[in-house]
Amino acid sequence: MPKLHTPLCDLLGTRLPIIQAPMAGGPTTPALVAAASKAGALGSFGFAYTQPEAMQRDVEAVRALTDAPINLNFFVNTQPAAVAPEAQSGAINAIAGYYQALGLPVPAPVRAPYAPDLNAQLSMAEDIQPAVVTFHLSDLPAEKLNRLRARGIKAGGSATCVAEALHLEALGVDFIIAQGGEAGGHRGTFQRNPYDAMTGTFALTRLIVRAVKIPVVAAGGIMDGAGIAAVLALGAQGAQLGTAFLPCTESGASAIHKQSLLAAREDTTTVTEKFTGKPARGLVNRFIREMNASNAPQLEFPAQGSLSGPLRTASGKSGNPDFLAMWAGQAAPLSREMSTAQLVVTLEHETLEAIERLVALCR
Ligand SMILES: Cc1cc2nc3c(=O)[nH]c(=O)nc-3n(C[C@H](O)[C@H](O)[C@H](O)COP(=O)(O)O)c2cc1C
Repeated sequence: MPKLHTPLCDLLGTRLPIIQAPMAGGPTTPALVAAASKAGALGSFGFAYTQPEAMQRDVEAVRALTDAPINLNFFVNTQPAAVAPEAQSGAINAIAGYYQALGLPVPAPVRAPYAPDLNAQLSMAEDIQPAVVTFHLSDLPAEKLNRLRARGIKAGGSATCVAEALHLEALGVDFIIAQGGEAGGHRGTFQRNPYDAMTGTFALTRLIVRAVKIPVVAAGGIMDGAGIAAVLALGAQGAQLGTAFLPCTESGASAIHKQSLLAAREDTTTVTEKFTGKPARGLVNRFIREMNASNAPQLEFPAQGSLSGPLRTASGKSGNPDFLAMWAGQAAPLSREMSTAQLVVTLEHETLEAIERLVALCR
């Protein structure tokens, strides 16, 4: 059988040029990451909301199963200063009715810190020494990036436009993740208005490949081998898939999130900032529809995420899709239910088949 291989595989130490996307908030369990890495992809933890001790525990769980390379991913974002009381009450009033609808008490004002300390997370990452660290939502200060790279850790950053890709390349990252507008989850935009940086994966991948000299990994709307072959044809050296891994057996996404993806028939995703305070793409539900339409007040990221957290958790646990953030990319209707290992092997075979089909067009 021919081998699917790009120089990115040598850089990351993986068998395949496929990255199982980091997905913070539950989906990227140790079982998912271990299975993806063992099967030849780069398994990735979305550690944005994870405290250092829990990071260590999760990585140990993976290392008990495989010594294949893994990726630890973090959000780089400035924590807002203490939120003003008027802002708190406006944002609480906007969602109090949803809490009541689930029989939950009206939430109390949220208090900083709204997310784990990035410095503490990064020093734990230095101790863990994974093969790869990627970051999302901004650039990592050069000094922190250099510390990771000095330890032999390869570093990648998300870009949603050419200017961000050039900035990250100049900063010294090893590779760029080109996040197209189709992508599920938070927009990684940090140099533009996120709503003006929604270029699709096809156009963005090609633009960034032409602009930078380092490897580019395409992300957004890639669900099968045909999608992977397409971005390789555009010059990407790899593909990062998030939504495709959500319905996998080992994924920690809630059952209702998985079911909603598998039942999707058309692109019913949209971008909202109402769940966390930052634009992110997910399946449209009652919360998104009503909160977007009324343009209800919200707190800054990530404080809004703290405010909506108990609502989202309770909604997921009770199998109610109305108030859950069901992040998903535009190609969600291509979702398939299988084990993680099966998905990685299927993606590998499909990509080779797609490339062979294209080669057969050459006469
Ligand atoms: C549920 C979910 C959570 C995500 N969380 C993260 C994250 O923590 N860090 C990150 O860099 N990207 C995150 N993303 C974005 C992915 O890295 C990637 O850009 C996206 O999944 C690609 O689009 P696709 O979902 O259509 O494959 C998330 C995506 C989803 C669907």
